[in-house]
Amino acid sequence: MVNLSSILMLTLIQLYIFVSTVNSLECYVCENQEDNSEKCAKTILTCEYNQDVCLTEIKWGSTPYWSQGAKKQYYVSKRCSNKTECAMTRQRYMPLCTNIWYQDWVCSDCCQGDRCNYYIIICHTFYNPTDSGAVQITQSNLDMVLASNEIVFINFYADWCKFSNMLMPIFDDAADEVSKAGYDPGQVVMGKVDCDKEPSVATRFHITKYPTLKLFRNGLPAKKEYRGQRSVEAFAEFIKKQLTDSVVTFSSLKELHSLAEDKRHIIGYMDRRDQKEYEVLRKVAATLKDECIFHAGFGDASQQMHPPGQPIVVFRTDRKTSADPDETYTGSLLDFDQLHSWVQKKCIPLVREITFENAEELTEEGLPFLILFYHPDHPESIKKYKEVVSMELESEKQNVNFLTADGVKFEHPLHHLGKSVADLPLIAIDSFRHMYLFPDYKEMDKPGRLKEYLKDLYSGKLHREFHYGPESPQVIMVNNEVKVTTPPESTFKKLAPSKNRYTLLRDEL
Ligand SMILES: *[C@@H]1O[C@H](CO)[C@@H](O)[C@H](O)[C@H]1NC(C)=O
Repeated sequence: MVNLSSILMLTLIQLYIFVSTVNSLECYVCENQEDNSEKCAKTILTCEYNQDVCLTEIKWGSTPYWSQGAKKQYYVSKRCSNKTECAMTRQRYMPLCTNIWYQDWVCSDCCQGDRCNYYIIICHTFYNPTDSGAVQITQSNLDMVLASNEIVFINFYADWCKFSNMLMPIFDDAADEVSKAGYDPGQVVMGKVDCDKEPSVATRFHITKYPTLKLFRNGLPAKKEYRGQRSVEAFAEFIKKQLTDSVVTFSSLKELHSLAEDKRHIIGYMDRRDQKEYEVLRKVAATLKDECIFHAGFGDASQQMHPPGQPIVVFRTDRKTSADPDETYTGSLLDFDQLHSWVQKKCIPLVREITFENAEELTEEGLPFLILFYHPDHPESIKKYKEVVSMELESEKQNVNFLTADGVKFEHPLHHLGKSVADLPLIAIDSFRHMYLFPDYKEMDKPGRLKEYLKDLYSGKLHREFHYGPESPQVIMVNNEVKVTTPPESTFKKLAPSKNRYTLLRDEL
């Protein structure tokens, strides 16, 4: 008897050891790396038998950590841990996990599963009470749902993420609210994707944090993530706004004399509201309503302006800065893509102001920035910069975003360039890898000078010169004695969507 039970016991112990060896977890490990690459994406450790989760910590701050004015960067650490320790770490960091890019912060996360801490997928913090009438979206119904609805608003979540779980009931209530609102079939659906169960869907839309809220219009993801408040009312209002006709109807041409002078306008002279051309204009308006104000007149209201049966769409620039006459669209009014791209070109100004509020959206566009840092007390430089850009650099707008920035508010990037408020105005490129200072602001309006500077960016010359000193046109000086330094790090890339990005806006917190 005794013998038998001890043999059994032994077997159990052996089995236990065997099983736990087989099951021992693998995690990525690294310590205070600058990025989620190299070591952090390559070093794998087999954890101890009692470690059952992978822990990731991300700090965002300056060197040395937590000091003011120094270069800001990520510090990524990964290791094996256990549930208790990991939860405690997360708890401890919660108040510091602000994700605000111009402050120092630290966040941590726990995950279960071999090598689960490869990507830094952030389950981020915001507080909200609420559950769901949202449609469960999977790989198999996704395309159908997108194709059959004008608006699809999707919550990408993960069950293990506490904040996903907190959002879920709110999102579901909002979905119920939206169903009750009586929209026509095919107008709107609120959906949800379980990113653990549907990795292919999550990957297709580059989901790197939970929960992520994305709006799809006519099957296409909106360029901007949902960044508003997370409450039933706010969601319902957001949907309502998306479905509100974005075209203002005028009933006589006189009304067009008093359009807002500081806005850009698109005006449609139409025959009937139910004509196909108007449907196309309405869809374009829905996508670009933040950029221009859209107007349309039907029948008598606009018959003087176009031949019967041939509707016309024109662009009116903001009268405040220009007296240019209205410009008529010459492409097909039945072609959504063509009209959309024309309107986009007209409505999005060549030079825009960057602010803390829109910085992340601008980085999402993915183009390097050419930025004028101006002093708010001396705004003359803005006008001059806009003139030069519109005269000389219009052709570059596919490659570069032209921006102006208040150098007092954005003092931090100036420090990266070794400059301060006293040096304003100045011009710089932020390529999202590095920042480059335009050598002499006064040369800005020298014909061709800024364009040449941009060419140097594209060709990599700016980067090489930073490392190796000035280049003459033919010779690249590569001198072993030259100390190789790195150009100041990009400030704005921190704002760009990336594997290790947290959400950056306060009202999401
Ligand atoms: C978890 O890890 C910590 C630190 O290594 C250790 O002190 C603690 O005893 C562990 N807890 C469990 C339940 O294994």
